[in-house]
Amino acid sequence: MRFQDNWSPATLVSTRDLAPGIREFTLRPDDYPCAPYALGSHIKVGVLVGGQPDVRSYSLVGEAEPQGYRIAVRLAEDSRGGSRYLWSLQRGAHLDVTSPTSLLQVDWQRPQYCLVAGGIGITPLLGVAQALTRKGADVSLHYAVRSRREAAYVEELAALLGNRLTVYAADEQQRLDLGRLFNGLSSGATVLFCGPMRMLDAARSAWSACGRAPTDLSYETFGSSGRLASEPFKVRLRGSGEEIVVPRDRSMLDVLNAAGHEIMADCRRGECGVCTVDVVDIAGEIDHRDVFFSEAQKHENRKLCACVSRAHGVVTIDTLERADAL
Ligand code: FES
Repeated sequence: MRFQDNWSPATLVSTRDLAPGIREFTLRPDDYPCAPYALGSHIKVGVLVGGQPDVRSYSLVGEAEPQGYRIAVRLAEDSRGGSRYLWSLQRGAHLDVTSPTSLLQVDWQRPQYCLVAGGIGITPLLGVAQALTRKGADVSLHYAVRSRREAAYVEELAALLGNRLTVYAADEQQRLDLGRLFNGLSSGATVLFCGPMRMLDAARSAWSACGRAPTDLSYETFGSSGRLASEPFKVRLRGSGEEIVVPRDRSMLDVLNAAGHEIMADCRRGECGVCTVDVVDIAGEIDHRDVFFSEAQKHENRKLCACVSRAHGVVTIDTLERADAL
């Protein structure tokens, strides 16, 4: 079962500042070597938030390397505390990690690959770019950032891709025109996307407007990005009427579990749907931050992924119905 994670103690062997607010951490498991892992893999990392154990999930950067797993963590002011904890660690620190897992499927037979990254979404795509380049594939990478100085891994990517890398810096008025980009791709091309939710919405709309098959756009996002600002909201449980407040810096999943309501979870990134809960009523607005449900399902507001999605107001849920009712 995917949600039985294989945890191992690990040591933080090095850190490297990549850009203002983005730090790379290399974590070496203590009791097994870093074996090759699938592209787009992520690991879970045990963190302490407010003195309590918690779990965060991070994409692995690049292909497997013997010195350890590389993750890149943006210090998010609006975060739930995981990034602050990792940024507080010094070299030699001990923490627990899982072995890597991946939900990303890469079809190696495509005539053209277009990689699109927004901000810290570059992390899973670096390894994809490395693998495709090694195979001699027709690959380009389009990397949108707020400012060039905030772009991580640009030198590594430029050495790998040359002029097949394009960086779009918003503060230099360089805008990534997704419609134009997608229209220029050959038939049979596939897009692999990782970026914030708003950018993913734009990518999906542009892809559909080009008449492309939805399955030819693969994507990941990060659960910290939503359409609404993170603010405290209430969860009301149908039946008991119990109300639980989800603070700005904690997930609904963690708060419900801490209150004794057992919600299963796996990826904790809004990708697998294991943490799905049924929504009975919403007084306010749900901010779906997952990539598991379709746009139509999100619009219906009948279910949400408790690991990443949030709300404004009060959301009434039924915790007894599980994801297998989907
Ligand atoms: S645990 Fe995977 S979507 Fe929530």
